[in-house]
Amino acid sequence: MSPTLTIRPFRTPARGVAQVPGSKSITNRALLLAALADGETVLTGALFSRDTRILITALLALGFEVAADEDAQTIRIVGQGGRIPQTHAKLHIGNAGTAARFLTAFLALAPQGVYELDGDEAMRARPMAGLLEALTGAGCRALRADGQPATHFPFTLHPSGRLGELVVDASASSQLLSALLMVLPLSPGASVRMKGTTVSEPFVVMTEKMCTQFGRPLNREANGSWRCPQPGAYQALGTYAIEPDATAASYFIALPAVTGAGAGVRLQGYVKNGLQGDTAFAEVAGHCGATLTPQGSSLVVQSWPDLRGGNFDFNDFSDTFLTLAALAPLASSPTTIRNIGHTRKQETDRVLAMATELERLGVKVVPTAEELRADDKLSALTIHPAREALRAAAVKGPVEIHTYEDHRMAMSFGILGSYDLWGDGRPWIAIQDPACTSKTFPKFFQALEALRTQFVAVAVDGGAASGKSSTAKVVAHELGLLHVDTGAHYRAVTRALLDAGARAEDVTSVLPALAHLRLGSEISGISSVVTLDGHRPVDASLRSEDVNAAVSKFAALPAVRNFLLAYQRSQVALGQAAGFAGVIMEGRDIGSVVLPQAEVRVFLQADPVARAQRRAAEGQTDAVAQRDLLDSTRATAPLVCPEGATRIDNTHLPLVAVVAQVKALVQSVARPA
Ligand code: CDP
Repeated sequence: MSPTLTIRPFRTPARGVAQVPGSKSITNRALLLAALADGETVLTGALFSRDTRILITALLALGFEVAADEDAQTIRIVGQGGRIPQTHAKLHIGNAGTAARFLTAFLALAPQGVYELDGDEAMRARPMAGLLEALTGAGCRALRADGQPATHFPFTLHPSGRLGELVVDASASSQLLSALLMVLPLSPGASVRMKGTTVSEPFVVMTEKMCTQFGRPLNREANGSWRCPQPGAYQALGTYAIEPDATAASYFIALPAVTGAGAGVRLQGYVKNGLQGDTAFAEVAGHCGATLTPQGSSLVVQSWPDLRGGNFDFNDFSDTFLTLAALAPLASSPTTIRNIGHTRKQETDRVLAMATELERLGVKVVPTAEELRADDKLSALTIHPAREALRAAAVKGPVEIHTYEDHRMAMSFGILGSYDLWGDGRPWIAIQDPACTSKTFPKFFQALEALRTQFVAVAVDGGAASGKSSTAKVVAHELGLLHVDTGAHYRAVTRALLDAGARAEDVTSVLPALAHLRLGSEISGISSVVTLDGHRPVDASLRSEDVNAAVSKFAALPAVRNFLLAYQRSQVALGQAAGFAGVIMEGRDIGSVVLPQAEVRVFLQADPVARAQRRAAEGQTDAVAQRDLLDSTRATAPLVCPEGATRIDNTHLPLVAVVAQVKALVQSVARPA
């Protein structure tokens, strides 16, 4: 067991980009499907965790070529079109449910062979009978050490290679059904029929969608059975992108509920209509008071103005019930979570584990842990508001939460412990065996810490074509900062003033035109883009010859600068609210005037010839030197190297080197709050 971890409550709102790993369910399905495909597939954004490593190790032991690159989050696998290279193997599955079920069905495809499968103690107790019975019906034998038919791990599998008409009881776990569905196309004429119902329809739908993505759609027929109309090997896909894990994302949807006003957590690539049913958690969170704003392919979670209870059916996305259950003691009304009976046979009896640990914190739960122990059919939990009780339970110091080798227990209580119960930052929850998160989210506690980092402001100033935009964009992308190009603000205003007939030489023509200007912002990717009267100006119209010639003249007018100052400063709040870890703003007076408090100030320079060449290479007519002269000699906010700024001359430096220097500066100031 790993050493107990005391959770430090958040004293500042959580902010930044949540580092959510790839989905376990998708990674493990994709590994299997790719192994059954007729060639090579590279999985990108793959999860590297205990469960996926177990499956990778098993595939290697079975003779497949698998190359995993953990830093790049890719796994390259060469499929054999349904053939399993090794006919004999001994596989240890640990406590990985998906690997256990998927591999068992996968091995049944071998026309001959002897496969010994075992798992650890917890796995030996988890449901396998439905799957083993179905395969036995098709002529496979799964035998215990004493030669009797097995209903659980461990067993030795003697496959028959043909599946035929399978009947499966998947009432204990939808994985028993998914395992069979994935191998269906490889056995022509085979069908799968379900006895009764299954617990988690969305995971079955995920399996169906992925079979389709790998080129072998399944038909769900009216009588409830599945067939593959065009059987054969799956198609090797070249690359296959794994979605970020929606269950893991639930912790970061929950976090802003406990960390106070002003939070902004960004979930990149959170796909609502993708493969994962657990995105339904976002809806429940919405009912309980979460503020969620989709932004392109990201979801931004702000502080929850309210945390309310409610009554919810979690049957279809039960992996996330623990996330809500752990928040529930802080809610203003009771929370009832229904239809989670099947989770009592997962990593641990999750309903009992949750009730036991909430009671340890003094929380009232119905049924009680004792009642749950007496009746394993109970399948719902009501959790009562308990702030006072929590304080009473933690009065002598942090309460140690037992995690029962269940990653979701550790992560859920990690979120609850982030709540500043005493209002003074004193810890009140400690998590036993925090490393159990390695099952699906090895870096969970680091990802939590990363959101504690203070918002950083980075000012990048410099002359025309000194590399500000290129540098700022890459740094923004790599560090999760909002990129703001203030030059574009001056250009947009110049465009509008020119269009209104104003002239820089005549302030009286400028003031009325300015009065009519309505500036706004749109976030596009990592950049904040200026809008004029609600519309984004076309890029080319901002870099046209007339704008190039006039912009520095307008920019020298105090009226124009004042007009833009408040707007530019407001970009910091925009970045915070949108869940960025900071803002990187580029211009001429950022470190000196706009953000004089910026934690990082950089001044970029390059010799004038090099800069003129850069602009010419971009095909622009732009008198760079002339603009520089105007910019640095004007009375208001001239172009200067701000006090304390780091000068970087990039005449001979490649972009990557400049980026590395700026990143190092940012990382040196990004201290924990
Ligand atoms: O791209 P380039 O560096 O050539 O210029 P820009 O960043 O698009 O800025 C265009 C013009 O806006 C500059 O030449 C300045 O006159 C003005 N500007 C400013 O005065 N203050 C800023 N913070 C940014 C731009």
